[in-house]
Amino acid sequence: MREESAPAGTGAAPLLVRTLRREATERPPFWFMRQAGRYLPEYRALRARAGSFLDFCLTPALAVEATLQPVRRYGMDAAILFSDILTVPYALGQQVRFEEGTGPRLEALPDGAGIDALDAAGAAQRLAPVYEAVAQLRTELPAQTALIGFAGAPWTVASYMIEGGTSRDFARIRRWAYEDPAGFSHLIDLLVETTSAHLVAQARAGAQVLQLFDTWIGTLPEEQMRRWGIAPARRIIETVRRAVPDVPVILFPRGAGLLYEAYAELADGVSLDTTVPIGWAAQALQDRCVVQGNLDPMLVVVGGAAMLEAAQRILEQLGPGGLIFNLGHGLVPQTPPENLAALCDLLRDWKMR
Ligand code: CP3
Repeated sequence: MREESAPAGTGAAPLLVRTLRREATERPPFWFMRQAGRYLPEYRALRARAGSFLDFCLTPALAVEATLQPVRRYGMDAAILFSDILTVPYALGQQVRFEEGTGPRLEALPDGAGIDALDAAGAAQRLAPVYEAVAQLRTELPAQTALIGFAGAPWTVASYMIEGGTSRDFARIRRWAYEDPAGFSHLIDLLVETTSAHLVAQARAGAQVLQLFDTWIGTLPEEQMRRWGIAPARRIIETVRRAVPDVPVILFPRGAGLLYEAYAELADGVSLDTTVPIGWAAQALQDRCVVQGNLDPMLVVVGGAAMLEAAQRILEQLGPGGLIFNLGHGLVPQTPPENLAALCDLLRDWKMR
């Protein structure tokens, strides 16, 4: 059995975990996607002495420090492990680089032969520094601060592996999935297995909540979303629940639209992108699972009353039914750190009505 993070005597699990178990809480927990990152001067300083971005992610002491930075400054209810979804293609033996300004660059998988060359057996060993960072974080974080582990969902990770980077139209992967679904499903199956194992290993090392990021699933029509998004997510959750039954899973199927309902059936929480109407989420999703989100990250760049009023609407409409306050996507580098401080003040003082 895994131990609860709270020290003996206090008895309570972290607020984030209690919320995902649907217990009544004093206020919604909050954390922010991409809460570690370039908007923080202390992150930029650490980044400058870290070497390549992959070395940064795979050096436990640096990953631990980057994870802790935003929590020290703002006291979020959760820390998300500092890592990246593209550590998995790297662990499978694909070349992965991060270039300043242009984002990730991978040697694109040409075809089925490229899939056969991937080294699934070696992945766990290449990812060992990630689990080391998780274990160390659990000893350094305050007991009330939940540690979130994560991975990219198969479709999103496959899109980087096949397109060779972030794509404008995802033409190669979408075409491959239509023209050769049997061949393409080998890659998705491989990613389901590797991703499940990666999540379970993070939980065993001390992650108390897991999040699966499907950033690019919104590029697919219904049938394809069910096949390459929902079905793989179901298989991953089944494996994770069998291995670590006490660890809740949050899905982020960005752009899933009305199919958020299907995702909400699978998970303990769904993370809403900025387009999801909060009134609809309250009616259609919250009886199925807890929702997370969904403030527009641009409002944290803008700050002031526009940001605070939008946050209050989310708290009022979604707070009572089971909410983890977050953004609809990640914080952006141009975010003024003091705007996030003002938002955290509102969230910390919020009282559930
Ligand atoms: O604070 C956190 O959220 C934890 C760390 C984290 C990173 N990436 C660090 C990172 C997490 C959870 C991710 C997930 C991730 N990575 C996603 C899914 C979530 C999403 O944002 O949609 C995706 C699609 C990626 C792939 C990726 N990594 C891209 C496209 C880029 C380049 C764009 C950019 O913002 O630079 C990265 C690099 C990256 N990952 C950075 C950080 C802090 C910036 C790199 C740097 O500091 O030089």
